Amino acid sequence: MQSIESEAKIAQEYLARIAKDAEAKFDEHLPPVKDRPCRLHEAMRYSMFAGGKRLRPGLVRAAFDMFGGKGESVDYAMSALEMIHTFSLIHDDLPCIDNDDFRRGKPTSHKQFGEATAVMAGDALCVLAFELMGKTGNAKAIEVLAHLLSTYGLIGGEMIDIECEGKKVDLDTVDYIHYHKTAALIEAALQVGAMLAGADDKSIEAIRNYGRSIGLAFQIVDDILDIVSTTEELGKDAGSDIEKGKATYPSIVGLEKSRERARELYEESIKALDGLTCDTSILRSIAAYIITRVK
Ligand code: IPE
Ligand code: IPE
Ligand code: MG
Ligand code: MG
Ligand code: MG
Repeated sequence: MQSIESEAKIAQEYLARIAKDAEAKFDEHLPPVKDRPCRLHEAMRYSMFAGGKRLRPGLVRAAFDMFGGKGESVDYAMSALEMIHTFSLIHDDLPCIDNDDFRRGKPTSHKQFGEATAVMAGDALCVLAFELMGKTGNAKAIEVLAHLLSTYGLIGGEMIDIECEGKKVDLDTVDYIHYHKTAALIEAALQVGAMLAGADDKSIEAIRNYGRSIGLAFQIVDDILDIVSTTEELGKDAGSDIEKGKATYPSIVGLEKSRERARELYEESIKALDGLTCDTSILRSIAAYIITRVK
């Protein structure tokens, strides 16, 4: 049994390796800046290549490989998931939502290009993501992804997040927000990867449960880092949640209990993998990384 830190290191190296190949594909899949509308294409590329952990494409790849997937469909899905994630970040940072100035170590899209272009860069990345998903030829995977992004998924979570600003909310509501705004897309990445590989229903159920646990843990750690880290370390505005009176885990249960909850979710995510007969070691490492990450 390895320590959680050495498990996390394995995941970090895995994600860095996947990122290199994935970024070459993003470049192929994104429109060139020389095509009109040039400024919009530039803004899409600016946010996509600003950095980032590439967790969602990493999860697509891990699930696809784990279930013995073959072929190119996974490349389209990896780009699509990172494009949807990047769209959600660009819109999340807008003055009318979180009003943040830094993302991935650079000025946010609206700071760099203006609000109108940032709104459209987000829209365009989301649409392109579904165009790429179309190339996988897997209608069910597209439906699952759309649902987990919908008002019953990420967009629903973002909406309630905004509605709860400055209000006293209970833990159930924070769980709702976190499961939807963050865990849904993480679950989608895993499920899409598994579906494209042709995994059976029981395996898909197991991987979804794993995804929900690490997804919630991911957002709890994000809430913690917003308090304990600096803008330089995070590459995005630290202290942003307190400033806006956001409904976060630490704001309700405090830092220590938030850390405990993340640890519990880690254990739950590992248990969710129990029923699977294939090699799940990389997913165990990724779960360790999620609860120990510092950015
Ligand atoms: C940030 O996601 C938004 C949340 C869901 C908390 P990441 O922390 O994965 O951001 P990048 O992709 O590494 O920039
Ligand atoms: C955002 O949650 C989740 C999405 C972008 C959908 P946060 O607002 O906490 O994410 P950060 O902290 O700005 O990355
Ligand atoms: Mg937000
Ligand atoms: Mg935000
Ligand atoms: Mg945050």
